[in-house]
Amino acid sequence: MLTSIKTNSLTNEGQKLGMMYIRVAIVLFGAQLLMGLIAAIQFIVPGFLFEIFDFSVARMVHINALVVWMLYAMIGSVYLMLTDETEHNVVAIGLGKLAFWVLTAAVTVVVLVYIFIQVGAGSESTIWFINEGREYLEAPRWADIGIVVVVLIFYWNVFATYMKGKKTGIMTVMVANLMALAGLYLAGMFFTDNISIDQYWWWWVIHLWVEATWEVFVGTLAAYALVKIIDAKREIVEMWLWIEVLMLFGSGILGLGHHYFWIGTPEYWWEIGALFSSLEPVPLVAMFVHVLYDWGKEQGANGTKPAIKNGPAMAWLVTNAFGNFLGAGIWGFFHTLPQVNIYTHGSQFTAAHGHLAFFGAYATILIGMMYYGIQRAYGVERMRATFKSKMAIFLITFGVLGMTVALTIAGYEQVLVERAELGANWNAFFTAQDLPWYIQAQIWRTIMGVVTFIGFIYLVWDLITIGKEAKEAQV
Ligand code: HEM
Ligand code: HEM
Ligand SMILES: [Fe+2]
Repeated sequence: MLTSIKTNSLTNEGQKLGMMYIRVAIVLFGAQLLMGLIAAIQFIVPGFLFEIFDFSVARMVHINALVVWMLYAMIGSVYLMLTDETEHNVVAIGLGKLAFWVLTAAVTVVVLVYIFIQVGAGSESTIWFINEGREYLEAPRWADIGIVVVVLIFYWNVFATYMKGKKTGIMTVMVANLMALAGLYLAGMFFTDNISIDQYWWWWVIHLWVEATWEVFVGTLAAYALVKIIDAKREIVEMWLWIEVLMLFGSGILGLGHHYFWIGTPEYWWEIGALFSSLEPVPLVAMFVHVLYDWGKEQGANGTKPAIKNGPAMAWLVTNAFGNFLGAGIWGFFHTLPQVNIYTHGSQFTAAHGHLAFFGAYATILIGMMYYGIQRAYGVERMRATFKSKMAIFLITFGVLGMTVALTIAGYEQVLVERAELGANWNAFFTAQDLPWYIQAQIWRTIMGVVTFIGFIYLVWDLITIGKEAKEAQV
């Protein structure tokens, strides 16, 4: 029996606000890719845009835009599901919209400052107004504080709506997890002169986000999306969700140790990091099985073809299950033991893992949610994949996989030549970068980056047109 999704166009203000966030997310995603391409070209032609748009800036904007677009898409996705799950309207929608505009204005100012002020000495005032200098979270302190205020408003909206409305298992996990996710941001907000202490806390944000709270977040989104897209049974997805939460936190929290091997923290982290981070792929397998199991099960239900109500969203969801397992689980496991990490630490191998993991675990499902949002916006019962949807998913996935393979080869060469053979000194670093394997790998990464970008163009084109086309097909 089908529990039909509410198909009247954007049934409530919360969903409209969700779509506002999603629109900005896609623009920032585009900016992220362009910056990545500039940085990739600079690997091959080091003088490219030198002193006009330096590598350090292109790289910084690339990874900060990545984090920010994902946060936008995450907030957007929560607003999309909030009223659905709680059966209650968002309590303070006006405030929510104000927060959106404040955040977007702040992000614009921060990016402009990054672009126009690229070099100079660091001081107390640059920490406040220009750049806080923490990889992935470089926003200056005024923006940091602003982000906290905006997130508090968002969280208030989610929490108060949840308290007033229906309390599903999915939403309960979402609300509890969001508190941890937002709270962790605070660990990256204060600066200490001692770099070991600074890194110690900085990793709380980065690691405990991507390997604990963000993973739980996508588990929750996947559960919700499966209920909506293939009518998966709530009891089943919620059962999986609880198991995943337990395993993700069980391995992810102490798995933090794999970043404490060489930063001046005590040596007992070697054992703790090795053991718990090695267990991290286990929940990722569970998440993978979860999506495929539910899909397979619903397919067989009454012997007929399954009603996949949103083809592209489902395709991205399945890509997510594979991508999360491969990028985080496998590519993460490769270098998580201290015996291996002593050779691979900070190499292109890390970059290979970073790309496939962020893409596989997060970009994929968030793109899926964008398609889901479009379906709701146009109020169509069923949205089939178009030629553009297929080109987008194929080119983006193929491109990112290609980049990952290329970077893995570059990393392999670094491990053998720079680390093992030449002894990991400064000179070895440059020698390794001049050898053909490394250079060819960087060229291939750039080519695959272009493939990814072409896929992105298809994606935007599709997102703009698919809703209208599906609506016309329905009438
Ligand atoms: C979706 C989840 C994950 C994401 C998005 C992710 C992303 C990243 C990124 C971007 C870095 C580089 C950080 C930097 O710039 O220094 C990194 C480092 C690392 N990741 Fe992950 N990761 C994930 C899951 C995992 C898992 C499950 C494992 C282990 C099983 C793992 C093992 C590692 C290790 C050992 C490093 C340090 C690499 C080094 O020493 O250079 N990651 N991760
Ligand atoms: C057009 C496609 C892309 C290109 C050309 C590109 C290129 C680059 C370059 C050149 C760097 C700097 C690497 C270094 O310092 O050695 C970088 C870093 C990074 N990029 Fe991309 N990128 C692209 C797409 C993506 C996507 C889709 C994601 C994730 C969804 C992503 C996530 C990251 C991360 C996490 C880092 C930091 C990695 C680390 O330090 O370990 N990039 N990228
Ligand atoms: Fe980690």
